Amino acid sequence: MPGLDATARRAAELRAEIERHNQAYYVLDAPTIPDAEYDKLFRELQVLEAQYPALLVPDSPTQRVGAAPLKAFPPRRHGVPMLSLNNAFEPAEVEAFDQRVRDGLETIAAVDYAVEPKFDGLAISLTYENGLFTCGATRGDGASGEEVTPNLRTLRCLPLRLLGSGWPALIEIRGEVLIFKQAFVELNARQRQRADKEFANPRNAAAGSLRQLDSRITAGRPLAFFAYGVGAGAEALPIKTHAELIDLLASWGFPVAEERRVVQGAKGLLGYFAEIGEKRPSLPYDIDGVVYKVNKLAAQAQLGFVSRAPRFAIAHKFPAEEALTEVLGIDVQVGRTGAITPVARLKPVFVGGVTVTNATLHNEDEVRRKDVRIGDTVIVRRAGDVIPEVDAIVTEKRPMKPGKDLFDNEPVEPPFAMPTACPECGSAIAKGVDEAIARCTGGLYCPAQRKQAILHFAARRAMDIEGLGDKLVDQMVDAGLLHSPADLYGLTFETLAGLARMGEKSAQNLLAAIEKSKQTTLARFIFALGIRNVGEATARDLARHFGQLDALLAADAEALQQVADVGPIVAASLAAFLGEAHNREIIARLQSAGVVWTEEAPADNGPQVFAGKTLVLTGTLLTLKRDDAKTLIEAAGGKVSGSVSKKTDYVVAGEEAGSKLEKAQELGVPVIDEVELLKLLEQGVDA
Ligand code: IVH
Repeated sequence: MPGLDATARRAAELRAEIERHNQAYYVLDAPTIPDAEYDKLFRELQVLEAQYPALLVPDSPTQRVGAAPLKAFPPRRHGVPMLSLNNAFEPAEVEAFDQRVRDGLETIAAVDYAVEPKFDGLAISLTYENGLFTCGATRGDGASGEEVTPNLRTLRCLPLRLLGSGWPALIEIRGEVLIFKQAFVELNARQRQRADKEFANPRNAAAGSLRQLDSRITAGRPLAFFAYGVGAGAEALPIKTHAELIDLLASWGFPVAEERRVVQGAKGLLGYFAEIGEKRPSLPYDIDGVVYKVNKLAAQAQLGFVSRAPRFAIAHKFPAEEALTEVLGIDVQVGRTGAITPVARLKPVFVGGVTVTNATLHNEDEVRRKDVRIGDTVIVRRAGDVIPEVDAIVTEKRPMKPGKDLFDNEPVEPPFAMPTACPECGSAIAKGVDEAIARCTGGLYCPAQRKQAILHFAARRAMDIEGLGDKLVDQMVDAGLLHSPADLYGLTFETLAGLARMGEKSAQNLLAAIEKSKQTTLARFIFALGIRNVGEATARDLARHFGQLDALLAADAEALQQVADVGPIVAASLAAFLGEAHNREIIARLQSAGVVWTEEAPADNGPQVFAGKTLVLTGTLLTLKRDDAKTLIEAAGGKVSGSVSKKTDYVVAGEEAGSKLEKAQELGVPVIDEVELLKLLEQGVDA
């Protein structure tokens, strides 16, 4: 046997040589020796470092990320088998567990339990010899697993040499390898960027990353670890409880759950379950339940094991969040604003603690992407209180019909196609320009959109019907009194007075407000129709441009785009709305009910000195309030914008004008003050 000096020299030589090969391999992308030769050097250094922990320096290449790829994982027999836990789902099962424990311990006193999260990753056993990490393996069948030591070595959170002291000559540390939620999101983003396969969930990502034959791939994956127990070597530890064990593991440098506690009796267990259930969404890692362990190690030994699970511990699991079921049909639902959502009708399935019969498919693009069809078997997910959704289909289970030969099968069902008519009202369904969401275009007519449409119609900036709030609209629509805004003008005192909680005075006031709303402006009327993408300003532009409703109704998309500030998106939603006969019918009814406005012939509007011009107001004006200046400019055909650009025609600057003034000067936009503004209004732009 060589002396320590000679060994130390050999180790230093090896480190230098391996580092040179590493440099050549990783940095220069020019391998200098065959993998097998490199492995031999690496193993020699590992053996030396294991034999003489004093030789192990923090910068040894053996401490580094990744080693040469393996052909297969060698099997590894666990010193002490890795058991599994029995499961409980219901409080009664937890109470029965506690009862069995007390029976086994022959006590009626409340038992102390060490409680901790049940990590949703994969179980691992780490062997430390004389404080050094020498081997790590998966659980496998419990008796033996696969040795994945090089992969585990890449986990920066694992101590390669135990901290502190007092560890036995050989100890197996048991715990869970997992990926934190945030790291998972980032990992999938990277996978997507590189056009690599994305992982379904953090557990799959952790399992896939740990089972890489090339640990250099593992090294690039954000694997984490939590310790929760000990296999071989447990008997040599100077402790009496599980809680002390976890503290000891923490002192040796292992990550342990912060959420661990000691509680008393079944009540304590259920209290902890509720507490963690609440914390679950905000925990940085996934858990699928909690684990209860009798705290006293002597009591654990007394209780022992049944078949392959301990009698002293149990897993209390959350309801599964994913389940398989069958798609019976694909319906579409219409939201309050007309948004059409495809929904899968499912064979009822128990998932996330409730029976689910419907799951959202979000939108047409999503259905296409997932290619969900009737008859498909799908993975349904319901996490916490979120709406159940269809995660993915199980391709192998898709019903197929035989084609002309063995390889020519085709699906029984065609791909999903969005209906062209609204299931609620029969109006056309259209997708806005650049939008993922399809919508029913029958905004004034569609029962699904009724309440929203009436509320918007009555709003202060629209038809301004005072006293018609959402409660009253709900009540009247639910009572069948209102089907569209046009029905407002047919309401009578008798019908209103018949409504619950409606006094005579209120009924009279409401009728008066409705009557008063008949006198309006074309701009308000257009705005009140609730056309998608047509806000107050656009409604004003439209009113000014067309002057008359008939002219607007006659305009096609091209004509609409002639209006200042109406681009393809607004023109498309206007054309869709005005093209829908159901909407025109309601508009006609509103007019015959007596809704009128003074027609805004552009020529009658006085001199349109600012026609087509955009102005920006900034700072405090001398005499005019901001709103009044805006009204004056708009009456003269101008538009008031909130920000300065190259397209701005004038910036009207008052006292303490700030960045907008600077921007105007920068861009060379003419700057005027209030006096000049008033002069222009009076005399015209060219004066
Ligand atoms: S103790 C003798 N504690 O659950 C029992 N297991 O069904 C040893 N697990 O394969 C397990 N978190 O992967 C224990 N805090 C925890 C755990 C935990 C997750 C997993 C572990 C094991 C399975 C048992």
